[in-house]
Amino acid sequence: MTRPPTTLHQDATHESALGHVTGHARYVDDLPHPPGLLHGVIVRSPVARGTLLGVDVEDAVRLPGVVRVLTASDVPGDNHVGPIVHDEPVLADGELWWNGQPVALVLGTTREAARRGAEAVSVRHEPLTPVLTMEEAERRDQWLITPHVIRRGDVDAALASAHLVIQGEVHTPGQDHFYLETHASLAVPGEAGTMDLASSTQHPTEIQRMVAHVLGIPDAAVTCRVPRMGGGFGGKESQATTPACLAALGAWLTQRPVKVWLERGEDMRITGKRHPFRGRYRAGFDAEGRLLGFDAEVVADGGATVDLTGPIVDRALFHLDNAYVLPACRLVGKAVRTNLPSNTAFRGFGGPQGVAVIEDAMERAAFQLGLDPVEIRRRNYYADTAGRDITPYGQQVRDVRIERMTETLLATSDLAAWRAEVAAFNATSAHTKRGIGFVPVKFGISFTNSLLNQAGALLLVYADGSVQLNHGGTEMGQGLHTKMIAVCAEVLGVRPSDVRVMATSTEKVPNTSATAASSGSDLNGQAVREACEAVKARMVPVACELLGAERVRFAGGRCVDADRPDHAVAFSKVASDCWVRQISLSSTGFYRTPGIAYDRPGGQGTPFFYYAYGAALAEVEVSAWTGEYRIRRADLLHDVGDSLVPSIDRGQVEGAFVQGVGWLTTEDVLYGPDGACVTRGPSTYKIPAVGDVPADLRVNLERSPQAGTIGGSKAVGEPPFLLGFSVVHALRAAVAAFGTREPELALPATPEAVLFAIDRQRA
Ligand code: MTE
Ligand code: HPA
Repeated sequence: MTRPPTTLHQDATHESALGHVTGHARYVDDLPHPPGLLHGVIVRSPVARGTLLGVDVEDAVRLPGVVRVLTASDVPGDNHVGPIVHDEPVLADGELWWNGQPVALVLGTTREAARRGAEAVSVRHEPLTPVLTMEEAERRDQWLITPHVIRRGDVDAALASAHLVIQGEVHTPGQDHFYLETHASLAVPGEAGTMDLASSTQHPTEIQRMVAHVLGIPDAAVTCRVPRMGGGFGGKESQATTPACLAALGAWLTQRPVKVWLERGEDMRITGKRHPFRGRYRAGFDAEGRLLGFDAEVVADGGATVDLTGPIVDRALFHLDNAYVLPACRLVGKAVRTNLPSNTAFRGFGGPQGVAVIEDAMERAAFQLGLDPVEIRRRNYYADTAGRDITPYGQQVRDVRIERMTETLLATSDLAAWRAEVAAFNATSAHTKRGIGFVPVKFGISFTNSLLNQAGALLLVYADGSVQLNHGGTEMGQGLHTKMIAVCAEVLGVRPSDVRVMATSTEKVPNTSATAASSGSDLNGQAVREACEAVKARMVPVACELLGAERVRFAGGRCVDADRPDHAVAFSKVASDCWVRQISLSSTGFYRTPGIAYDRPGGQGTPFFYYAYGAALAEVEVSAWTGEYRIRRADLLHDVGDSLVPSIDRGQVEGAFVQGVGWLTTEDVLYGPDGACVTRGPSTYKIPAVGDVPADLRVNLERSPQAGTIGGSKAVGEPPFLLGFSVVHALRAAVAAFGTREPELALPATPEAVLFAIDRQRA
């Protein structure tokens, strides 16, 4: 049963839960087909690198149902798009950069006709040797961004004075987004040179801008609407652009509606993934396990184009400290260009890749110093005390919750007893071992490009008291709309069922930022609140007059005399009276995050409004026969502030944790020697299934209010993804139990990798 939110800070089901499970919720691909619709199918580059000599379309256009084949020369505006730099051709032009790159678009009266047409197109090319590894790209000096450097103190002196120096190299893998809904766009040409799109995008404004850019028309001539997404996870922050621009290009040139929808295999072949990173570090500790110096360099594989690689590397650097004070450090971030699909945003946005590096150092230092892995971390935590409260980039951390949360987690999980059970099991089991792993998390909240931290809303109250709410954020399953309904209903004092959230549209709120950086409810929530307050302020005098009251409260669908609570008038009556008196019942709201700025060349500033914290313990059991393992139990404690809708946040913590575990364990993106992605579906690419969720999963929320945010809540979308590291640490502990040496475990820690690690341990 759908239970809409009653008020803020209470559990509720997702506003579309019933639609999701009954199939009534509409996604782009479910929208009714407009008359005359054409289907677009992409012709892809068959090589990872080459010179494009020509595109032969004659055979294709002769096929029944094929209407037209488009190539780069058909683009009326600029063929180059991209979220930061316009370096990505919509259709390949002159050069081929990755295997799967769009080269042409076949328009057909049916999808099948267009698909057969695409098979008949021949891409004439001269292959060149592709660069498929970071090492080769570095050898060839194929740098994609200007390096980012953050320094504090004299790291070389700190390392020279250290009791223990650990030198390490950490490779973190790519990850396919595997949203259930693949990319989809429907473009409908309008009157007088306009274009209307429905797109499965996290960033409707980006689609509007890029379509206008490609067609050579003003932004105002384009609208983009997003009904909802079946998951985005960052994969639809910048990379919905190509399908949308292709649909719009087809619609522009034929003046017929065009739909471009990618099949799973095509989607996985064409689109970019989480950036694989290589981190190299030297970490210096004193004899008690306190970090003295940390010298780290991370390099990301950006793939063929810039996309969002710059800010992703930046966020990796901002998270190289995780929850730990770095008294002296040198942190360097770089990225290379390879002939692979352009890597892109993915939940955590480089943060997890940064945290992986220092967590490797922590695990190894604990082993080498013979310290409890929980204790060594606690000794290094940030705190609200002078000297322990400044990050390497100069931001003061406030309201540090990690020590308190660790204490709570240790108590609620009864770690001592839990460890004793595991030790007893391991003492009697030769070929199956168990291990417990721990990880703390500190994650910075805000877009690191400070100007993006802005949002708008548009509220419409109708004369019958019903409400339409528009805001700039998109719904991808994360529950943003549910939270925005709760905020709106709370401020207006109406029933949530009286509030209808409209599909996100560039017609309603202009110049929006992507729904990303976990900031959807932080930013849009404040804008929604402001729009509601503005309309309410105009309704108050009317309610006071109707009630003969001095002060009124809006609650439960009524306006109540604050001094005589039994005197009330329906919200709908006040709304209709406002209309009669010619009082405006609509308003915009706008918000920008105060007090944040970052100087990238200087490597100093305050990029984050605040930090979200988390801590996790996990237990695994591994088999030395096969390397297979199970997660027996996981205890998660995650900081959500005074949660807007706790049941939604709990779902986010569970889902993010499982997705983080998938990244670090079973998911393995593989490319063939020709640079084609070979893991193109669930048979070869293993996302966690229901059976992979820990049998015993205990999720608790830390709910103290955060100052200055909407309702005291905290962003939740990305941070709990990093709790997945607890499983890697548990696997390391289980592997270690097979011998006496320091365990070595590659990522993703697939059963194969675990088996190799156990074999090394036993050798
Ligand atoms: N939850 C679901 N169900 N589906 C998604 O695609 N994306 C995640 C997270 N949770 C996602 C999700 C990512 S990558 C981000 S940045 C946030 O949701 C974005 O939404 P928010 O800012 O409203 O939290
Ligand atoms: N974090 C997450 N997503 C983003 C960011 C960021 O800082 N910038 C652009 N997209």
